[in-house]
Amino acid sequence: MKTALTLSGSIRKGSYNRILQQHMGRKLTQAGVAVTEISLKDFDMPIFNEDLEPDHVPEAAVKLAEMWRSHDIVFIASPEYNGGVPPLLVNTITWLSRQKPSVFRHAVFGIGGVSSGKYGTIWSLSHLRDSLTKVGTLIVPTLLGIGPADTAFDDNGDPVEPGIIRKVDQMVTELTHFSRG
Ligand SMILES: Cc1cc2nc3c(=O)[nH]c(=O)nc-3n(C[C@H](O)[C@H](O)[C@H](O)COP(=O)(O)O)c2cc1C
Repeated sequence: MKTALTLSGSIRKGSYNRILQQHMGRKLTQAGVAVTEISLKDFDMPIFNEDLEPDHVPEAAVKLAEMWRSHDIVFIASPEYNGGVPPLLVNTITWLSRQKPSVFRHAVFGIGGVSSGKYGTIWSLSHLRDSLTKVGTLIVPTLLGIGPADTAFDDNGDPVEPGIIRKVDQMVTELTHFSRG
């Protein structure tokens, strides 16, 4: 059975990206994938600083790195802050990029995001894709930018727009098709 790890770049209460993370988890489960859903709240890491290496690498970075390596699929829901990737996600990826062996070359990744603007995180997803690709990550092509956030989901946490529903299905197909396991 294929395995997937899902996470969100927002840990705030009521996060729309958490809603997307949970929706993607349900869709992957329906596709026969064993899903592990995590919150970055449980992987606390200080702001990365090379002086912290090698003696003060957070245990959370070591643990999360192993989780990224051991799953077939990783799905990241990312908010957009000032047209870019939010600091929580940048810091997490920075710490993970320092763990050996690489955490980027095992799973197939899907990235998506929800934001209050009508362009729905397309700028942050572009930055995130660019950065992850540069360190060797295979990311499926579907652009899953969702916005405006406040009208994007119904009471069950499922997307309402037919175009978004189609894109989620497309990403699930890509993730299950391209992953090992
Ligand atoms: C510091 C900051 C910068 C933001 N910049 C953007 C932006 O560039 N584009 C956008 O559409 N929304 C922006 N927003 C609004 C977020 O999209 C909105 O708060 C969203 O709900 C965050 O995701 P979350 O609900 O998962 O926490 C910003 C919010 C914050 C706090």
